[in-house]
Amino acid sequence: MVESTQPISIDDIARHYDQLDHFYREIWGEHVHHGVWETGKETPEQAVRRLVDLVLERAQLRPGMQVLDVGCGYGATSRIVAQEHGAQVLGLTVSPAQVRYAESVTNPPGNPRYLIEDWMHNQRESGSYDAVISIECLEHMHDKDRFFAEAFRVLKPGGRLAVSAWLSGEELRPWEHRFLVEPVCREGRLPALGTASEYARKMQNAGFEEVSVLDLSEQVVRTWPICAWRMLVGLVRKPGYLRFLLDPKNDNRIFALTMFRIWLAYRRGAMKYGIFGGMKKT
Ligand SMILES: C[S@@+](CC[C@H](N)C(=O)[O-])C[C@H]1O[C@@H](n2cnc3c(N)ncnc32)[C@H](O)[C@@H]1O
Repeated sequence: MVESTQPISIDDIARHYDQLDHFYREIWGEHVHHGVWETGKETPEQAVRRLVDLVLERAQLRPGMQVLDVGCGYGATSRIVAQEHGAQVLGLTVSPAQVRYAESVTNPPGNPRYLIEDWMHNQRESGSYDAVISIECLEHMHDKDRFFAEAFRVLKPGGRLAVSAWLSGEELRPWEHRFLVEPVCREGRLPALGTASEYARKMQNAGFEEVSVLDLSEQVVRTWPICAWRMLVGLVRKPGYLRFLLDPKNDNRIFALTMFRIWLAYRRGAMKYGIFGGMKKT
């Protein structure tokens, strides 16, 4: 596990997403997660959608299911689950800006519903969901064991967990730890990044069975040169970008540079990406 050398509070994480709200949506769109390029010919939109479908396959959704989306962002995946799979969905996020946007584009309102709630201190009832999905939120959790234990608790027997996550490589060189993965944690407001084997073990320890891991590290890396390019184009074309990056009160502006670090970390194998699936036995 690689840990941030600076403490990161839940308020820091919420502020990261609120401050970068426009950046995230303008540069990447309402899905705040990687894309998956399998043929190399996909558009970014197709690649982003492929990642969602790979996660949802592991949730084995059926109409009428109760689904919880932990770390729902702008709710784009929650809306796919509600509208294309006929499920009742609740999305949790810690960012008020994300809830405001998600509610403004949910038509008719009511499904999905969105809530500002910290998963580490959630109020969900035990045994109340058929599936828990979580795309790129585990990184932000202070206690990874608790993340999985809570998912196990709120699932009904037979329910499934499907999670995608940024990962640390299994064996880092000291410089990769120091100059790539730890700064990515600190600058991205990620308290810690575990490895694929650590998370698979934590899922089993929480009680999950049929635990599976899909390594997509090679297929997601193209996300970062595209983001970096779009940001550079934005800097040239939109004066607001430069103003934002030069304003010291935007303490999350460093993330514009973190993108290049993440790209390099993937290329070195110091960062990885995976989708995890598991079932709570009946
Ligand atoms: C990278 S975004 C992913 C958003 C969304 N899943 C998507 O794919 O578009 C991470 C999300 O995790 C949420 N998050 C971070 N820590 C959280 C916590 N402790 N409880 C609930 N949500 C959290 C953030 O608010 C944000 O919505």
